[in-house]
Amino acid sequence: MIDSLQDWLFMVTKMDDFKDGLAGVPAAKSRVSYVDGEKGILEYRGISIQELAQKSSFIETAYLLIWGKLPTAEELEEFQTEIRYHRRVKYHIRDMMKCFPGSGHPMDALQTSAAALGLFYARRALDDPQYIRAAVVRLLAKIPTMVAAFHMIRKGNDPIQPNDDLDYAANFLYMLTERKPDPLAAQILDICYTLHAEHTMNASTFSARVTASTLTDPYAVVASAVGTLAGPLHGGANEEVLIMLEEIGSVENVRPYVEKCLATKQKIMGFGHRVYKVKDPRATILQNLAEQLFEKMGHDEYYAIAIELEKVVEEYVGREKGIYPNVDFYSGLLYRKLGIPTDLFTPIFAIARVAGWLAHWKEQLAVNKIYRPTQIYVGEHNLSYIPIDERVVAIPSEGMDGF
Ligand code: ACO
Repeated sequence: MIDSLQDWLFMVTKMDDFKDGLAGVPAAKSRVSYVDGEKGILEYRGISIQELAQKSSFIETAYLLIWGKLPTAEELEEFQTEIRYHRRVKYHIRDMMKCFPGSGHPMDALQTSAAALGLFYARRALDDPQYIRAAVVRLLAKIPTMVAAFHMIRKGNDPIQPNDDLDYAANFLYMLTERKPDPLAAQILDICYTLHAEHTMNASTFSARVTASTLTDPYAVVASAVGTLAGPLHGGANEEVLIMLEEIGSVENVRPYVEKCLATKQKIMGFGHRVYKVKDPRATILQNLAEQLFEKMGHDEYYAIAIELEKVVEEYVGREKGIYPNVDFYSGLLYRKLGIPTDLFTPIFAIARVAGWLAHWKEQLAVNKIYRPTQIYVGEHNLSYIPIDERVVAIPSEGMDGF
């Protein structure tokens, strides 16, 4: 209720500043990554994603993101060795996971386990470089182990211990099956990690920075970001893509499916992006990787549906609204071919994105000011408290008036 000219003027001025979803509002100055959504450019610390995907490894890329420079051979070796050494998780964490409902989503299990790590490494010495280094190493090392452990436990098995002979991505595949993976499969997963490691101020990174700005511990920072990534409009979309491809079922069904979605304003999963108005460069790289993998391991029945979907969406709305495949569109197809269960797709995204979240955590600490935005109050004033027996039964309303 607006009851004075002054209130009205205040509202109009503030409403001019208001952007739904903070779209386009800068929330930090950052040197971590850069996106040009019109040209389809993505860079980590100034280096193009294409070059990193081709020449770097995930751990080297994580080092680049977090420490701000490419490591020397010695620095990389040391970082890799530390991560390898810290892969195991305490049996308390494994025991805690045994109490989780097996039907629970692995992202919820991961969020809980990431927060639980903070119980074991509680010291909050954010000005101590050794503490920062140890937290970075532990989180990068233990998150994949916790994802794999929950998967084994929910199947009624004991977790598979990490294999020190294997690199980062290969070890994750090993912890799901206890078999050394095909080198191409491990290489492709490693590139997928690199592609998902960082992407400017998206919802989960914003969440990480807001949490970091309170000077809480890095485990809480990662846990809050994992919770944010889980949603179907963010990291959860890769899982939804496969569910959608299964629902479409055949190439002939693609056109009617797209028409139905557009007529009912239903989002087509794996398409559209707040920033990219062209095809996401990561989607192009993932599509090429998918083709390599199918070449070696046999074709995937859903790939033809995906290609047709990309074509039909472009024809109907792509060019007009800038809706093209995003990073989630082809990643699910790849993970499926690697034998990874659908509900582990988003946790894999999280394993990779830990690198970006930690880079932003460090950057936030260096310039910290606690996040405290404002709001525009659109509720009422000066109402009286009504005794409970005088209240009339409310007619069910539709949620919260759109807020
Ligand atoms: N399918 C159909 N139409 C779409 C899609 C889509 N996937 N995405 C956007 N549009 C349309 C909207 O209906 C809207 O049309 P209108 O102007 O006629 O109303 C217009 O394009 C703008 O859409 P918004 O939702 O306002 O765009 P926004 O930038 O807010 O959303 C988002 C971006 C959330 C990614 C959206 O495209 C979406 O929901 N996509 C599907 C989910 C998905 O794939 N998410 C993963 C994103 S990548 C990541 O998080 C890692």
